[in-house]
Amino acid sequence: MVLFSAFLSLVSLLSLATAYGTLSDETLKNFPSPGDEFNIKTGAILAPILRTRVSGTPGSTAVLQHFLDFFKNQLPEWNVELHNSSAITPVSNGEKIPFVNLIATRDPPTSRVGDVGRLALVAHYDSKFTPEGFIGAIDSAAPCAMILHAARSIDAALTKKWKEMVADGTDELEEAKGVQILLLDGEEAFKSWTATDSLYGSRALAEDWEFSYHPAASTYRTPLDSIDLFLLLDLLGSSGPTIPSYFKTTHWAYKSMAAIEHRLRELGLFKSSPNHPTKMAKRKNKKKRAEPRFLTEADKGDKAFLGGYVEDDHVPFMARGVEILHIIPTPFPHVWHDITDDGEHLDLDTVEDWTRLVTAFAAEWMELEGFFDFRQQRRAEFTEKSEFEIP
Ligand SMILES: *[C@@H]1O[C@H](CO)[C@@H](O)[C@H](O)[C@H]1NC(C)=O
Ligand SMILES: [Zn+2]
Repeated sequence: MVLFSAFLSLVSLLSLATAYGTLSDETLKNFPSPGDEFNIKTGAILAPILRTRVSGTPGSTAVLQHFLDFFKNQLPEWNVELHNSSAITPVSNGEKIPFVNLIATRDPPTSRVGDVGRLALVAHYDSKFTPEGFIGAIDSAAPCAMILHAARSIDAALTKKWKEMVADGTDELEEAKGVQILLLDGEEAFKSWTATDSLYGSRALAEDWEFSYHPAASTYRTPLDSIDLFLLLDLLGSSGPTIPSYFKTTHWAYKSMAAIEHRLRELGLFKSSPNHPTKMAKRKNKKKRAEPRFLTEADKGDKAFLGGYVEDDHVPFMARGVEILHIIPTPFPHVWHDITDDGEHLDLDTVEDWTRLVTAFAAEWMELEGFFDFRQQRRAEFTEKSEFEIP
């Protein structure tokens, strides 16, 4: 019995490992930089999130609308849904507060809904009730922005890949893989963190999805089962983060991400690195410095997983058997839950590095090598710009 199950899990690991396509150096180099869109005052993606957005307040509605506009204007192929729930909180005087999760899904065009396994990219968008005026730039405005940018960077390649698969009939043969974005509400506690005062949005969503059945004879029973990997980003955007590998069962995915980080650093593409070409150019002493790492535990052995983890939006999903990759620094950044966690305290080089890393991870997961056309993407952007500049 023991041997048999060990064998089975080895087989499933192997099939997962082969369904993962490494990107070329060219592709890694050519991913678009967020540039002005991550400007903290004027950036089209990031700036609108950098405001108070406590669940149930107008700030929250405005940020949600910003996300909806982004999908409508820039990612029209994604299926966007809102998941609503409500709850009384310790500070709402018996009144019910609404919580709205945004779910955006992009599946292969010819597959049935219950037959698609998905990579879920997850962050929470609510900000903490206290201290008054708290922005939560790393917690989790910046992670939301990273996810939106990553989704747009792989969108055209997904279209191209699926078009070709339909054209040559291979869409029938291969396992169907999709991408899902979960921007969750009500992660923060209103008073102090307890089982009932925290994770309002994720608890409601996981509970509902557990019993939302796909049509009979689907590959996956529920939308929860459809999540192959729940990749949760939190507290990202301060300089010098170190991210442990929290879970043995997804350590293979952690290692894939660490391998991409290593390659991006080797290629001189990590802007926060002390050895990035622009930093080297400004330095008198041209000797290479020790290269830091975000993901420090790629070599962690099986026996080193002691079960410690950080409570966050993955908990209600993990409790229902969903596989989790939790990208959150330990120790937490200094600005954590402090009024100083604002746009000015973000390290934008680090934010950009995370964005490139998450983009590359998603692209490898979706096996998109060979489907990027960066020249065309840049031409399109150029044409768009010149239409505005030439009256
Ligand atoms: C969920 O809430 C949003 C925002 O409050 C609202 O626009 C939407 O109609 C609601 N959706 C459902 C299905 O009730
Ligand atoms: Zn927080």
